[in-house]
Amino acid sequence: MLITPNRQDLNKIVVINPKGGCGKTTLSTNLAAYFAKRGPIPAVMDCDPQGSSMGWIERRPSSKPPVHGIAAYKRTMQATRSWQLRVPQETTSLIVDSPAALSHDDLREVTRDASSILVPVMPSSIDIHAASRCIADLLLVAKIDRRDRKLAVVANRTRKNTKSLDKLMRFLDSLGIPIIAVLRDSQNFVHAVEDGIGICEMTPYKVKKDIEQLDQIIQWLDGWKERRYRTSDSAMIEQSDNVTMFRKPGIGSN
Ligand SMILES: Nc1ncnc2c1ncn2[C@@H]1O[C@H](COP(=O)(O)OP(=O)(O)OP(=O)(O)O)[C@@H](O)[C@H]1O
Ligand SMILES: [Mg+2]
Repeated sequence: MLITPNRQDLNKIVVINPKGGCGKTTLSTNLAAYFAKRGPIPAVMDCDPQGSSMGWIERRPSSKPPVHGIAAYKRTMQATRSWQLRVPQETTSLIVDSPAALSHDDLREVTRDASSILVPVMPSSIDIHAASRCIADLLLVAKIDRRDRKLAVVANRTRKNTKSLDKLMRFLDSLGIPIIAVLRDSQNFVHAVEDGIGICEMTPYKVKKDIEQLDQIIQWLDGWKERRYRTSDSAMIEQSDNVTMFRKPGIGSN
């Protein structure tokens, strides 16, 4: 079980989607690099036994602003669990990189007290189908209330104007879940992860397009405190209405 502090000034950003390779670590590490550059020091909690985010932190050059790493997937005998998972006091952004498979209990635990939940989705039929199950679990198992506006999708590795991107957008639109950014398929992300950096730390003219796309995610994340207050019209959305449709096979696959 995870224990993360419920601090009023802490934006707990959970990056989640059981579909392997959809871009959780890529997104988590790029957000971490961005927040590190802006300060104060962010923390990345790596819940994935593959330890990809922790590996990224280990590769991070000492010349770059530090990112605090929490290897939540490790069970240490030397320290208490709460000590192992502690978040530095000055940290205001905690990014949780989640594993491919989560039990219902772990899903509830990972998302508890989250202020922002990002679901990276690649726009293929298989990925859209997996994402629909993930979103269903977030709403029905983790009891994330859409009216809280803390849940958003990032379309990842997309090419413009493709049928599958269009399908993903229509599907999410029908659920009232926003796609806050569309990240293109770009080798910049691959190189950044390999080098322990974020695209915001690469030569600016080479990453201009990718930075513009990432900025849209940052902008949405920065609104987390405002999103806490529900708007009266969003309170009209009936949570239970459309949710059961997720359970039906074939959603997002036609
Ligand atoms: N926008 C992108 N453009 C190009 N390559 C990308 C992009 N996003 C992710 N990738 C690449 O796709 C692969 C999978 O990405 P990543 O490791 O972030 O996925 P993941 O969801 O964390 O996977 P896992 O479930 O195994 O932890 C990596 O090689 C990564 O470099
Ligand atoms: Mg990963």
